[in-house]
Amino acid sequence: MLADKDLPPYVYGDLKREELVRTGSVVLHEYYFANLGGDGKAGGKIQDLLKQWFGSYEQWEAEFKRTANALGGGSGWAILAYNLHTREVHNYWSWDHMHNAPTGLPLLVLDMYEHAYHMDYGAAAAKYVDAFLQNVNWEEVNRRAETAVKAGS
Ligand SMILES: [Fe+2]
Repeated sequence: MLADKDLPPYVYGDLKREELVRTGSVVLHEYYFANLGGDGKAGGKIQDLLKQWFGSYEQWEAEFKRTANALGGGSGWAILAYNLHTREVHNYWSWDHMHNAPTGLPLLVLDMYEHAYHMDYGAAAAKYVDAFLQNVNWEEVNRRAETAVKAGS
């Protein structure tokens, strides 16, 4: 496409947009599957970060669920992330594969696209969110948290 000097800019723009969509989709799905398969019991570094930024695990969980359920019936990702710029931890609302906070490093990601839960839970997205939280691999989340905090210091 670069060799075609007459290529309309919007065509190249479409290609660059798709690059973001596909990159986001691959990375977020890999993070998603890797942060599943645990016992859902948070501990270690992430427990400290959640307490620091949300007051308690329970407060964090309530906010994470609310963020995720706000995407139910639509599409997107709920992403617990460490922000390298602000050095804060947030639950970010991500409408699609490209919609991420700048410099937010994902610690825990939850797929809220309908395909992730509709076969098992129908429209009951909140039940899927509850089941997800019972199966989080917090050891993987802790590895990401250690790396993120180191990168931000
Ligand atoms: Fe998905």
